[in-house]
Amino acid sequence: MAQTYKYREIYLKTKQDILSQQYNSHEKLPSKRQLANDQNVSINTVKNAYEQLFAEGYIYTKERQGYFVEALNKLIIQDHRIPQPIHNNPTKIKSSYRYSFSHMTTDISQFPIDLWSKHTKEAFRLFQNEMSEIPIYKGPIELRKSIAQLISYKRGVTCYPDQIIVSSGTANLLSALFNTFSNNQKIAMENPGYSRMRKLFIDMGQDVVNIPLDQKGLSVNRVKSEQPDFVVTTPSHQFPTGTIMPISRRIELLNWVTEHNKYIIEDDYDSEYKYGTDNIPSLYSLDKNDRVIYLGTFSKTLMPSLRVSYMVLPYPLLYKFDLATDTAITDLSLINAYTLHLFIKSGNYEKYIRKMHHIYTEKRELFLKVLNKEFKEDISIYDMEAGLHFLLSIKTSLTYQEIEQKAHDNSIELYTLRRFMVDEPANSKVKTLIIGFAKIELEDIEPAILKLKEIIYE
Ligand SMILES: Cc1ncc(COP(=O)(O)O)c(C=O)c1O
Repeated sequence: MAQTYKYREIYLKTKQDILSQQYNSHEKLPSKRQLANDQNVSINTVKNAYEQLFAEGYIYTKERQGYFVEALNKLIIQDHRIPQPIHNNPTKIKSSYRYSFSHMTTDISQFPIDLWSKHTKEAFRLFQNEMSEIPIYKGPIELRKSIAQLISYKRGVTCYPDQIIVSSGTANLLSALFNTFSNNQKIAMENPGYSRMRKLFIDMGQDVVNIPLDQKGLSVNRVKSEQPDFVVTTPSHQFPTGTIMPISRRIELLNWVTEHNKYIIEDDYDSEYKYGTDNIPSLYSLDKNDRVIYLGTFSKTLMPSLRVSYMVLPYPLLYKFDLATDTAITDLSLINAYTLHLFIKSGNYEKYIRKMHHIYTEKRELFLKVLNKEFKEDISIYDMEAGLHFLLSIKTSLTYQEIEQKAHDNSIELYTLRRFMVDEPANSKVKTLIIGFAKIELEDIEPAILKLKEIIYE
């Protein structure tokens, strides 16, 4: 141990002396024996240190003469600023909140880890060959087949597995897609809407236009006046307001893109959970003219950290996409991809969704009951009986910043509508909060709401 430590000390000291030009180029280093005597270590320790320096190119040997210093340029070090942390206010680690109203996650306490592990083992056994090869960009065909079946049955999305691209996150899929177009595509986005995606498009140099919503979802009149190349929408459960786009608006939007040769990007992010009604068919299922790009994800059904999302491309876009990604490698974890394929194929995915539907129904109902009991006429709830969150508007003179800060100080993870709006909402006497009900434990719902009440009224 002492020798190992000594070895590092000699290695580091000699390296430092060479870099700071304490030695001249081609100067002979002390012999191994001499340095070993000086440092009171074995010759081997010095030899190891010199050999490491030799391997890294700091020194060279001459036969029977010893070790010499290489001719090195002095390393430029411009100044000695002490690096500062990027954020002066370190943000709280999310998982350390006492209560979470986050809309971004799922309840993974019920995740069938044993079944998942069983499928992982099976995946290793069944797909050993595939896993030892460089994987193609679109993801394993087996998983694409399973997804094709799943979305045909659940969402009315009839497509060939060929049209499906699976990747680790919606952002990756969209980046890859927009790499096949020239920059500065005009993209219409809902406002309020999914701010992460809006930022992605802006960062990519696209021309994002923000489209307001009315009670039927995004305003098609505004779309018509903006003339975008793509319209991004969440018709099954508008994010974050929850509006379900009625058929009249769907037809109007589809007709506009068809007549103008434009595209809709349908973000079907959380369509799996409906509480009062049956599933609402996708916009893709209504399209007969190849005008809809469909996005789906397992982030809301399994967990966001799994990073498995998919995109269905209409054929006119597919040929170009396949050409552009011909030599690209997927960023998907193949072991997760094959495990998920087996999880779906075995029926365990559907079983899990049914179980979670039951759990989320219970949580959601308790939320609504306790909120109405505690806040009475001070609140209105925009609850479209779908997904994993709803909007809660509360009469309060607190600002959005004050509510967020107080929630944070009281260990509640809470997001408000302002996060999803392009402009700061007007400072009215009503503030709208996003209430995600998936992550919180059932028994924590009432105490969390009481805490929220304290925050609002104290
Ligand atoms: C509105 C919306 N769209 C899409 C997604 C899917 O994102 P990903 O598949 O990258 O996890 C999410 C995820 O939370 C979302 O909230």
